[in-house]
Amino acid sequence: MTSPSFASIVPATPPAGTTTAPRLEVVHLSATYQEGRAVLPVLKDVSLAVGDGEFVALIGPSGCGKSTLLDVVAGLVTPAAGTIQLDGAPVTDRARLGRAAYMRQKDLLLPWRTALENAALALEVGGVSKRRALAAARARLPEFGLDGFAGAYPAQLSGGMRQRVAFLRTVLADRPLMLLDEPFGALDALTRAAMQAWLLDLWERERRAVLLVTHDVEEAVFLADRVVVLTPRPGRVAHEERIALPRPRRRAVVTAPAFVAHKAAVLAALGLLGTDGA
Ligand SMILES: Nc1ncnc2c1ncn2[C@@H]1O[C@H](COP(=O)(O)OP(=O)(O)OP(=O)(O)O)[C@@H](O)[C@H]1O
Ligand SMILES: [Mg+2]
Repeated sequence: MTSPSFASIVPATPPAGTTTAPRLEVVHLSATYQEGRAVLPVLKDVSLAVGDGEFVALIGPSGCGKSTLLDVVAGLVTPAAGTIQLDGAPVTDRARLGRAAYMRQKDLLLPWRTALENAALALEVGGVSKRRALAAARARLPEFGLDGFAGAYPAQLSGGMRQRVAFLRTVLADRPLMLLDEPFGALDALTRAAMQAWLLDLWERERRAVLLVTHDVEEAVFLADRVVVLTPRPGRVAHEERIALPRPRRRAVVTAPAFVAHKAAVLAALGLLGTDGA
């Protein structure tokens, strides 16, 4: 019997954590929907990347294909063209299912499940026993501001609390890539600001790769390392704004000249401001 050669026991790929490949690469992606006999072009030749531990915001007019892009990345929609790479390797639609934690545009809590049961759902669907999934969810309720609400049903929770339950479910899925589709869309300005600060705090601690869809320019600049701006449908990348603001970020940064300049650049890319700032 021969012992294995050194080369055969060295892994072909670097161990997890040492890879430099982006968590996500969207390469020349186009997507269409069939409407009767007509074909609706939704995304056209979109390329973007999210690095390990990077926070990228995706912004664009309503209907430009942002949710479709996340659906494609999550493996729920098959693109017309292009590839999706995870950790440096192309991954088929089917194999992408479950690879990212995905918080869809509506919070999608099940009304007949309690907050705790809703939060535990992703773990249960992933094959964890109900008892262990509930225990894991319960352990993190205080951190998500849900202490004392384990047994409440979605209808008994405020909008912000429902969002936090959906967030907890997404975070518990424990994936290195999180896809968040307008997670604060339904909230009033004060709750929204509180939730943004809370998300930044969570992200600072866990440093997962995030691709977050928003309509809100200030939110995008406040949260992200990079803001990708899409054109109206069919969505194409109009502009990428690298946000050179120090972290951790506090709300007061929104008055800094650098913040205002980034915001103006994104507004201009959206066609909401003349390039001369007028
Ligand atoms: N399942 C579907 N079947 C057919 N058309 C669809 C489907 N889902 C979305 N569309 C259409 O595709 C386009 C892009 O939709 P999408 O939801 O991706 O946009 P969006 O950028 O997320 O918009 P919003 O900002 O309003 O959420 C829209 O014109 C929409 O009507
Ligand atoms: Mg959408």
